[in-house]
Amino acid sequence: MDVQSILKQMTLEEKAGLCTGRDFWHTKDIERLGVPSVMMCDGPHGLRKQDGEGDHLGINESIKAVCFPTASALASSFDRDLLRSVGETLGNECQAENVSLLLGPGLNMKRSPLCGRNFEYFSEDPYLTAEMTTEFVKGLQSKNVGACLKHYAANDQETLRMTSDSVVDERTLREVYLACFEKPVREAKPYSVMCSYNQLNGEYLSENKRLLTDILRDEWGFDGFVVTDWGAVQDRVKGLLAGLDLDMPGIGDGNQKKIIQAVKDGILPEEKLDEAVLNMLKYIMRYSENRDTNAVFDREKDHAKAGDIAAECAVLLKNNGGLLPLNKSAKIIFIGEFAENPRYQGSGSSHINSAFVSNAADTVKGMNNVLYAKGYIAKSSEPDAALEKEAVDAARQADVAVIFAGLPNSYETEGVDRKHLDIPDNQNRLIEAVVKAQPNTVVVLHNGAPVTMPWIDRVPSVFEMYLGGDNVGKTTVSLLFGDVNPSGKLAESFPLRLADTPAYLFYPGGKTAEYREGIYVGYRYYDKREMDVLFPFGHGLSYTEFEYGGLKLSKTKINDNERLTVTVKVKNVGKVAGKEVVQLYVRDIESTEGRPIRELKDFAKVELQPGEEKVISFVLDKNAFAYYEPRLPGWYVESGMFGIDIGSSSRDIRLSSEVEVESTQEIPMIFTAHSTVGEIMQTEKGRMVMAGMQKHNQDSSHMSSEHLGEGSDEMVKAMMVEMPLKKAVSFGQMTEEQFESLIKALNE
Ligand code: BGC
Repeated sequence: MDVQSILKQMTLEEKAGLCTGRDFWHTKDIERLGVPSVMMCDGPHGLRKQDGEGDHLGINESIKAVCFPTASALASSFDRDLLRSVGETLGNECQAENVSLLLGPGLNMKRSPLCGRNFEYFSEDPYLTAEMTTEFVKGLQSKNVGACLKHYAANDQETLRMTSDSVVDERTLREVYLACFEKPVREAKPYSVMCSYNQLNGEYLSENKRLLTDILRDEWGFDGFVVTDWGAVQDRVKGLLAGLDLDMPGIGDGNQKKIIQAVKDGILPEEKLDEAVLNMLKYIMRYSENRDTNAVFDREKDHAKAGDIAAECAVLLKNNGGLLPLNKSAKIIFIGEFAENPRYQGSGSSHINSAFVSNAADTVKGMNNVLYAKGYIAKSSEPDAALEKEAVDAARQADVAVIFAGLPNSYETEGVDRKHLDIPDNQNRLIEAVVKAQPNTVVVLHNGAPVTMPWIDRVPSVFEMYLGGDNVGKTTVSLLFGDVNPSGKLAESFPLRLADTPAYLFYPGGKTAEYREGIYVGYRYYDKREMDVLFPFGHGLSYTEFEYGGLKLSKTKINDNERLTVTVKVKNVGKVAGKEVVQLYVRDIESTEGRPIRELKDFAKVELQPGEEKVISFVLDKNAFAYYEPRLPGWYVESGMFGIDIGSSSRDIRLSSEVEVESTQEIPMIFTAHSTVGEIMQTEKGRMVMAGMQKHNQDSSHMSSEHLGEGSDEMVKAMMVEMPLKKAVSFGQMTEEQFESLIKALNE
């Protein structure tokens, strides 16, 4: 039966019921019409399927599953194919477990490194987030299992996450906090979007028609269903009117009754409810008609895959003197509880009950030359003198020490923001003591978000493993010994200290979270402020070296409807095979609006054998040059010169070129007495009308600058550009009548 005919036969009670969950994880069934109940589960980097009692905080037991690297690690792969295959693997697991929808991915922006859920989010950059999401969703949905983009939108902190009001200006919202959703919605067609708990500019997201309908459906063409974050409903009827389809977990029948009553009272038109019902029916029938009953969840195979994926995500932050890869016959000491008990995931609703976990200490058990010392207790920040002494003594006698450090579980969790960026004191102390005894020290980090590294000048090599999933132990060993060449790049900046971070003065805020740093999030901020960082966005080393050359642009001038092809050559000039992430940034050289120094607009991950060279090409369109112009409103390219920067990181730009881009759009303006000459001259019409005026001005100018000395030309120019039109009358450059006819001509 098709969804329209099912809808026609549904009672009002059944309709209200379908828009309300049956329990924590299921929709309601309508047996008489053949509509089954379907299950949805967290997400995002593994399957948290609760067969027993449900909860949304990861407290109760879920089935044994596989934990893949979390989003901050996945984004560091900068690898679209990898994200697609993670999605496919999870889709297969869902089919095998009869799960119709995976509650993820999480694409909130890393506004501050303090957000407790940053490990679940991809990046500080909306373009990278959108790319990673698009592929993940395509992979997952290729198995006929739905994705659920969460948490929509501007939900970038855990403090007061259910009530806080994110105050965001329109340009920032569009360019940063919605841009990460826009592309995946348009291109990957997710089955669903989850509205967040918080408010946006004074309105709860669960009742926000502008976001749930006007932008999501009407502008971006979303055709799935919108689900609440668990318990995010405020006024259920208002929510339905705004475009909120499904209320989860739907405990109790209070909201359902309110829907029925509102229809009876004529407050909620039944056609509006029908729209939501249709959205639900499409999803339920699509899944149930495409069930893959042959799918098998092979936990061993997927655990091995989680290890391969982690290898693509690890970021080699520092490697002075080529200490890494380790010599397989050197005397090595592994230090730190994380070597035995790695931290590989965060806490909260994404918590996976892993079937298998590998650790580095067990992985090297067969090697006589690698020993292990615990060094510290992970749950505590107090130093343990005996453990520390044992580790330092062992380090002194070894050729190399490898310390496994990072953030304990309690530091990164849903519902709580971090208070600082430091790893526990006992770990910092241990690192200092070990490196003093053994200069050949490597630090391996397990954490989901940036940390400070007070010892960085003394430690020659640092590996960022992030929260690398349940096979991270084995993968770390392969990377340390060079069986795999690291190729990850940071998807976020590592600041030198908390006080340097963009939202420092306003994060997390109280009842309101004011996004006063605007569009300057992550590297956009550090670059604009010309600040040093610990490690920049896009940074990551390899065991080989890459040489860049031959940058070519297909044209020197384009208009904003044309495409520009950028080609560049990259060569592996080292001795081992490796992968490089070639990053393309665009720089607006001549903007009159505030714009970041440079913004990531494309990237490619290429694999190269020693001596091999490849040509990479990127195709840029309007999106690469545009900013969001609220006066239009829409995406707008300002005419002028743009820089094309090709880099190995955002701060390691290897090649640059320039292109002139001409806008085909004009920002509509209404001219008033307060419009400045500069504003008028920005428009075609203004330039024409003013051309006639100019001659008159020159002839009768009272502002001859010759007698004013050096620099006076500049002053006069600036005064002219910033002069409100009406002032030309005050200064006698125009009569009242001339002014009136000018305004009329300009606005015609
Ligand atoms: C979280 C969501 C999660 C949901 C269901 C909420 O508390 O914010 O990310 O999908 O619970 O567990």
